[in-house]
Amino acid sequence: MHICFIIAMEAEAASLIEKFSLDEVTHFASGLPMWAWSGLQGADQISVVVNGKDADYNLDLIGTQAATLSTHLAINHFKPDMIISAGTAGAFQSKGANIGDVYLSYPHVVFHDRRVDIPGWDKMGVGRFPVYDVREMALTLKLKTGVVTTGNSLDMPETDEATIRAIGGEIKEMEAAAVAWVASLHKVPMFCVKSVTDLVDSAHPTHEQFLSNLRLAVESLTEVCLKVVGYILVHKP
Ligand code: ADE
Repeated sequence: MHICFIIAMEAEAASLIEKFSLDEVTHFASGLPMWAWSGLQGADQISVVVNGKDADYNLDLIGTQAATLSTHLAINHFKPDMIISAGTAGAFQSKGANIGDVYLSYPHVVFHDRRVDIPGWDKMGVGRFPVYDVREMALTLKLKTGVVTTGNSLDMPETDEATIRAIGGEIKEMEAAAVAWVASLHKVPMFCVKSVTDLVDSAHPTHEQFLSNLRLAVESLTEVCLKVVGYILVHKP
């Protein structure tokens, strides 16, 4: 089986690439910013695709456009059996989240900032992409599950918060629904592993929390991703 992680930031992916001893894939996306690493774990293959850097700012490409392109390239190149959107995210302390908690997505991922107030387009804007059923895995690995909600901003204006609360979103991030959309086009099962860097309903500014907690959140992300791969390879879908 081939499991492919789609990860936005180099800092989120580096220790996972190291722990799996993956090799860089040359000619993965020539001329484009995306990078890939891959390697065998026994008879199974693990790959990590990272969005790469913006050419003008030399910063990690975050958000849905890059995630869409990465996922399409990853599926075309690797033909994986499972896609995992992994990374960091915000969550609600009012719903019991703590910094460094790792969530699995269930039952769906959605967009929270695609507002189109026309019947039909309103629902399409939100998306509601079903994800792989992680309930047994979450119980076994003692992980929280929740609706993952995607938008292209780190902050949370009132209108986004109202949408997220109405949808029952637990995890707020910037890529998952784009990854889920492309995976659904190719009929590849997907789910998310998201580690909490910031509490979106706390008094502290989100960007400050994100920067101070990134290292800790990535440590728990890596640890959980290793366990998730171990679980999937034993309980193959
Ligand atoms: N990534 C990490 N924290 C986030 C937040 N609060 N919103 C969107 N993306 C995030």
